[in-house]
Amino acid sequence: MSSSTIDVFEAGEHEQVVFAHDPISGLRAIVAIHSTALGPALGGTRFYPYASTDDALQDVLNLSRGMTYKAALAGLDLGGGKAVILGDPATIKTEALLRAYGRLVQSLGGRYRTACDVGTYSEDMDHIARECDYVTGRSVAHGGAGDSSVLTAFGVFQGMRAAAEATWGEPTLAGRTVGVAGVGKVGHHLVRHLVEDGAEVVVTDVDRSAVDRVLAEHLGVRSVADTDALVAMTLDVYAPCALGGALTDAVVETLSAVVVCGAANNQLAHPGVEKQLEERGILYAPDYCVNAGGLIQVADELEGFSFDRARQRAAGIFETTRSVFAAARQDGVPPAVAADRLAEQRMRDVGRLRGIWLNR
Ligand SMILES: NC(=O)c1ccc[n+]([C@@H]2O[C@H](COP(=O)([O-])OP(=O)(O)OC[C@H]3O[C@@H](n4cnc5c(N)ncnc54)[C@H](O)[C@@H]3O)[C@@H](O)[C@H]2O)c1
Repeated sequence: MSSSTIDVFEAGEHEQVVFAHDPISGLRAIVAIHSTALGPALGGTRFYPYASTDDALQDVLNLSRGMTYKAALAGLDLGGGKAVILGDPATIKTEALLRAYGRLVQSLGGRYRTACDVGTYSEDMDHIARECDYVTGRSVAHGGAGDSSVLTAFGVFQGMRAAAEATWGEPTLAGRTVGVAGVGKVGHHLVRHLVEDGAEVVVTDVDRSAVDRVLAEHLGVRSVADTDALVAMTLDVYAPCALGGALTDAVVETLSAVVVCGAANNQLAHPGVEKQLEERGILYAPDYCVNAGGLIQVADELEGFSFDRARQRAAGIFETTRSVFAAARQDGVPPAVAADRLAEQRMRDVGRLRGIWLNR
């Protein structure tokens, strides 16, 4: 493993960062536990060919912090963590590597619970679970919740309804033009909710087959060549559902949409973009607030999965988004700041109760 130039003690507020190496299976992994103030840290395992150990470390530190805020705002009894496995999953992912990783997660004694993320799937969680008790997002065949994108999309739609209500007075997208950038696992489910609600939907994706699938399913949906074209057209709502960093200075300047609400994590390209959005009169529904449906789904599995219970909880994203907008109005801050404050307040108020000793 190459040495890191990031000082983990300076880089964030993380409780614990664990590096693991199993040379025979090729496992090189980092687990970052950002906070356990509200419960065990939950977050997926990203399996990705990072250019360097530093890149992997930076990613896991950022992502684990985001999970803390997502779980806190969603009202879950969970903290925030994340793991990365370095390497190309297409070439190095084996049963032995996944089981070596399972033993690493087991060694943390439940302080960190893992799930799927980019490059890992429910079947991988099944292998990890052969060595480890702290795994969720398992396959349906093993009693798991399966694909989390179903409730992620449902939750984003609920957040978008709350944004529509705050903007136009009614919690519906009927008659509005919504641009969806990225119609992968989450984006294509989101399109279905929007079409059913009576929205005009325009999509784009770098993968032509993903666009074709959506156009074949929904006759009224249109597509444009790329995200630049989507952002430049007349829209009511822009829904980034591809990668992070979608809201750059240039995009915010160009957008005609008055609502931004999508599934992608870390949409703000840099701190300060939330203010620019506000100055342009664009209502931004904070990413981790509206995309918590998948986390809610895998968290439910820890209690024995009930899709109906998880769906009902994900429906609560409507109220949560509403309360974020209300707090933003009351405090005179952008919704992204209000969401952070609400999450931090819950961590303080509920986390403090751990200080009351109980014999359990
Ligand atoms: N899957 C979940 O449950 C979940 C939960 C929370 C957040 N998210 C986030 O939502 C986003 C989408 O997740 P997903 O599971 O649907 O992933 P996915 O890989 O299935 O879909 C992403 C889609 O975006 C497309 N894409 C990539 N770059 C693009 C670009 N520059 N322009 C247009 N399209 C582009 C890809 O071709 C793909 O079809 C990600 O940012 C993810 O982190 C997903």
